[in-house]
Amino acid sequence: MSGGRWWGGLQAARGFQPALLLAKYSAFLCGTVVLTACAAHQQSVVDPAGPQSGRIAVLWWVFLWLTVAIFVIVMALTLWTLFRRHGGIEQEPLETRHVPSEATENRMTRVVAGATVATVLILFILLIASIGTGKAVANLVNKNNGLIIEVTGNQWWWHIRYQNSDASQILVTANEIHIPVGRPVLIRGMSNDVIHSFWIPNLHGKRDLIPSHVTTEWIQADQPGVYRGQCAEFCGLQHAHMILYVIAEPPDKFNAWMKQQLQPSVEPTDPERQRGRQIFLNYACVYCHEIRGTTAAGQNGPDLTHFGSRRGIAANTLTNNLGNLAGWIVDPQSSKPGNHMATIAVKPDDLQPLIEYLESLK
Ligand code: CUA
Repeated sequence: MSGGRWWGGLQAARGFQPALLLAKYSAFLCGTVVLTACAAHQQSVVDPAGPQSGRIAVLWWVFLWLTVAIFVIVMALTLWTLFRRHGGIEQEPLETRHVPSEATENRMTRVVAGATVATVLILFILLIASIGTGKAVANLVNKNNGLIIEVTGNQWWWHIRYQNSDASQILVTANEIHIPVGRPVLIRGMSNDVIHSFWIPNLHGKRDLIPSHVTTEWIQADQPGVYRGQCAEFCGLQHAHMILYVIAEPPDKFNAWMKQQLQPSVEPTDPERQRGRQIFLNYACVYCHEIRGTTAAGQNGPDLTHFGSRRGIAANTLTNNLGNLAGWIVDPQSSKPGNHMATIAVKPDDLQPLIEYLESLK
């Protein structure tokens, strides 16, 4: 087909503009694939690290390639009908134009019927693949001595509690979950206020955390790593800053972490940190935060017993370091507007010992 005919075809089809549509959808598709590739190893559904996310990723690719194939076929047929020769239809008398012969009519009926059957079949294939994936994902059953972790959504942070029938082995932490590699972990999800959603894309699909209701799901990581998660249900102003890390470790490393986290905080020997500890206990911090091993026993905010060992501040909105912690304490509303951390007038001389003490809580 010559360039002139292409141009003529496009001119004739100004009202419909399939070429423009094709360009738009192709750009969208390429963008999606590029973004998906970039997201790998950070927080990605197509970079599975566990059995469930593996099944979900397979389903995702099945949907993607099937719909890509359909898109290409539909676009090819659209372009073909647009640019094919019309057999000199313009030369026919006006009254006989667009009246197909009986043979053409029959052929068109067969094509439409065939396309309808193919559409229904494809939808059934997708439905069956989807149900199969749902069943496989739900099939991760508890082996004996499964680990049970309660995850409670709060505006806007994650309360984490490792359950145990022995009360001395119950561990409370925040915004970070450590799990042993290769072992199924039961997540019991709850909420203290509005609906949140627990989502670690590299490990599993989303699960809503609903007030006055417990939802459960099993997760398992087959490779050690740090997997970023995100609240996946709009829950208010700081929904986007409700980040969670799942850290999958070899069993011995996980056990060492657990043992260390179960210890109460150690009283500092350094005079500056000792002063920081006293400052913390004198301010209103104690009404919301607990530090085991001290008199601070507040339950409204994250447990700070091993705060210094965690990666982030304010549900991982900020990296955990002295500078960010100082900024967070002095003006929590500037980095996370609307959050429920109280702004406390910390005297300038008190700030340095306070942050050094908190960062020493490893
Ligand atoms: Cu919690 Cu969105």
